[in-house]
Amino acid sequence: RQPTDSPLYPLLTAAADFYRQALKSHPTRKAAVDYLKGRGLTGEIARDFGLGFAPPGWDNLLKHLGGDSLQQKVMIDAGLLIENAETGKRYDRFRDRVMFPIRDSRGRIIAFGGRVLGDDKPKYLNSPETPVFHKGQELYGLFEARKHNRNLDEIMVVEGYMDVIALAQQGLRNAVATLGTATSEEHVKRLFRIVPSILFCFDGDQAGRNAAWRALESTLPSLQDGRRARFLFLPDGEDPDTLVRSEGTDAFRARINQHAQPLADYFFQHLMEEADPRSLEGKAHLVTLAAPLLDKIPGANLRTLMRQRLGEITGLNGEALGQLAQNAPSPA
Ligand code: UTP
Ligand code: MN
Ligand code: MN
Ligand code: MN
Ligand code: MN
Repeated sequence: RQPTDSPLYPLLTAAADFYRQALKSHPTRKAAVDYLKGRGLTGEIARDFGLGFAPPGWDNLLKHLGGDSLQQKVMIDAGLLIENAETGKRYDRFRDRVMFPIRDSRGRIIAFGGRVLGDDKPKYLNSPETPVFHKGQELYGLFEARKHNRNLDEIMVVEGYMDVIALAQQGLRNAVATLGTATSEEHVKRLFRIVPSILFCFDGDQAGRNAAWRALESTLPSLQDGRRARFLFLPDGEDPDTLVRSEGTDAFRARINQHAQPLADYFFQHLMEEADPRSLEGKAHLVTLAAPLLDKIPGANLRTLMRQRLGEITGLNGEALGQLAQNAPSPA
């Protein structure tokens, strides 16, 4: 999946060292330190995740790393520098931001996310796709979570860097984040190689609810019997970071225990919001929506049980349902 050796790795590591050092000692660091403290982070958790600071200015990293034109070209390939297409001038991609290093499963730094200290846009800037960074495959915090516990039994998938870190600080050290992208089938496959259970916990807003359904769709093709996925929906306006800090670890754990919804329950609840099974037309629509999705489940037992459930809801014979959807004529 990734080159085992690339000139980008030592550069990315050197950049992470620079950002980390800047958070400790750069003359302009105070704003960044205050920002992180204001978000409730301790120095210890900042160290655990290797947080750093890209100071304000156009060429702090460029000057620090130095190098001739050819070496700078590699820094551009690594996503650290940007070259102005017209003037050819090169400058730091990340400026005046709190820096979150992104590691691959072996702990190598492959990319960064950078957050503004205030309300400017874009709030987060991420490294571009590079030869060592493929967004749709990586999960922020996975290396850190496994390092902390080699025997995880469930991994929680959240949206953001700060969600992962706030949860970790509250003792919930099993969270990972998709990096501003949808949960992909590749993400899910990777997680199921590590744990038999995934808990999706996205923001309590429309974007978060959409992300949950997309995550469900990405999960279906990996649902062998013996694996499970659950969904925890948060109150409106909350994300895991705000909620775990306001209610605390025990309450958040209790919330998971009481409210995490099994994939099968969420599946039918969501589809019944789209197709109301109180009418025959609604039942027919529900079958049209549900049957092709159920066909994707490789676990024969779960697939059969969910078809039976669809049968109970619609009155159609559960066994026939898979057959039915396949034989259906495509819409005119
Ligand atoms: P959110 O807007 O929910 O971020 O986006 P957040 O983590 O809650 O942000 P703050 O720091 O608490 O205000 C979720 C994730 O989507 C990606 C980032 O990975 C972010 O953590 N994102 C968001 C971007 O890549 N760019 C953006 O401009 C915003
Ligand atoms: Mn959000
Ligand atoms: Mn947030
Ligand atoms: Mn959020
Ligand atoms: Mn929908």
